[in-house]
Amino acid sequence: MEHERKGNADSDEKVVVDNAGLGNSRGGVAATSEEERLSHQAHVGGEAGPSGRALSDSPENVITVDRTGLQKELEHLHGQVPGKEEETPLAKHLKTLIKFRGGPITLAEYMKEVLTNPSDGFYMNRDVFGTKGDFVTSPDISQMFGELLGIWAVVLWQQMGQPREVNLVELGPGRGALMADLMRGTAQFGAFTSALRVHLVEVSPALRDLQSKKLQCQEPGPRPSASGRDTDAGPSVSGISGVPVTWHSSLEDVPRGPMIAIGHEFLDALPVHQFQRTELGWCERLVDVAPDWSQRHLRLVLSKGPTVAAKVYLKKRLETLSIVEQKNNPVIEVCPGAVDLAKELSKRIGEDGGGALLIDYGDDKLAGDSLQAIKEHKFVDLLHAPGTADLSAWVDFAAVKTAAAESGADVQSYGPITQTQLLAQLGINTRVEKLLETATEEEAEALEQAYLRLVGDQPGDEKAGTPPGMGAKYKAVVIAKKAQGPPFPFT
Ligand SMILES: C[S@@+](CC[C@H](N)C(=O)[O-])C[C@H]1O[C@@H](n2cnc3c(N)ncnc32)[C@H](O)[C@@H]1O
Repeated sequence: MEHERKGNADSDEKVVVDNAGLGNSRGGVAATSEEERLSHQAHVGGEAGPSGRALSDSPENVITVDRTGLQKELEHLHGQVPGKEEETPLAKHLKTLIKFRGGPITLAEYMKEVLTNPSDGFYMNRDVFGTKGDFVTSPDISQMFGELLGIWAVVLWQQMGQPREVNLVELGPGRGALMADLMRGTAQFGAFTSALRVHLVEVSPALRDLQSKKLQCQEPGPRPSASGRDTDAGPSVSGISGVPVTWHSSLEDVPRGPMIAIGHEFLDALPVHQFQRTELGWCERLVDVAPDWSQRHLRLVLSKGPTVAAKVYLKKRLETLSIVEQKNNPVIEVCPGAVDLAKELSKRIGEDGGGALLIDYGDDKLAGDSLQAIKEHKFVDLLHAPGTADLSAWVDFAAVKTAAAESGADVQSYGPITQTQLLAQLGINTRVEKLLETATEEEAEALEQAYLRLVGDQPGDEKAGTPPGMGAKYKAVVIAKKAQGPPFPFT
């Protein structure tokens, strides 16, 4: 998600807090490298919380954090909430869930509930995108983004041997802007357009409606069924190019056949587990009910020892790391959903042909401690008013590529390359020049700004209101059928 950097307090005073105030790992910084991430260490222990009360009698160990340089932020976060924080419906639900379970839930479970709980999840009931929403994404910044990905799709379709029918799958289409621009941009390629069967993988009823409108379908997006799987609603037809459009709750529900898949900012919304190295081994960060005296309803705690998730997911990730990498990462994030998705995409692509383009903020390596919460374009505490802020995590593209390789499917992964490289190779410069030919002065200025945001690498300036460039932070990976050869522009 595109957002501005939040200034860090430059004080090096150490602040030990109870986890009721544990914020996102970047402390509100949209880090572009390990070095930029805030250094902090979490300790297992029973130190006193801000109120002076001992925390050692907690069923799990409370995380205490050296929040070097973050005192201002913490004061800011707490200072705004006199007394107990307002309890959102989702906070209430989570507290009940934790009490019912008889113990804390994993961060991955928390993230899933926060984003996609059917009644109160962040994505489920409203439009969260754009300048009036919580964050802005590339398809909203400029039509050029979807148009250029359309070129990528046409070239891949040609490389696939121009199948007469191809499933164009978008994972997590948000407002539907990317697909609408892709359809408009490729309408001139008649054979491609008539081969297309569009399949949108989307869990949010509210966003399905927005997507349906954007694609000029007659009916609103069909409701996901109570079980989470879709009823057999027939396809709608897009008024943009007459292409059939069908919605699904998961990739597994999309019919088999040659496939071109696009996932833009989808992987970063999939739930992550966080593990922390302690003297007891790798413990897991969990979400528990906060004590009555805390201003918060929820708090982060550490498991007493390695959890099932640590033994399964973390163990697997550690196997691919060098000793140095393990040492340099006191906190490790693992996203089982991204691994499963990469395997499912690989299996389908290997057997049916095609490719998947995954674009996200992330790197070709382990994601340390990156989970962050954003509300109205500002970073907030991870546990703040659950359901009202977006949660997302840096994508570990190395793990995605390993999953594709380990699937045993006839596929090859390519990249990551930066968004700058991807869009440049797809012809963004030529496209800008073409659009500038007929643009008014105002339009020309907007175009230039959009271009800079998409491909630039400039830091943001909060005071001047200029957001950072997304060109280097965002990366693209393709998983494609081996026999097709390297996909453009990964040649
Ligand atoms: C960060 S938004 C990205 C939206 C869009 N691709 C864009 O770039 O503007 C994530 C999207 O994935 C959807 N989503 C999140 N988790 C999902 C899941 N588990 N299954 C299907 N869709 C999901 C959200 O509703 C939303 O449409």
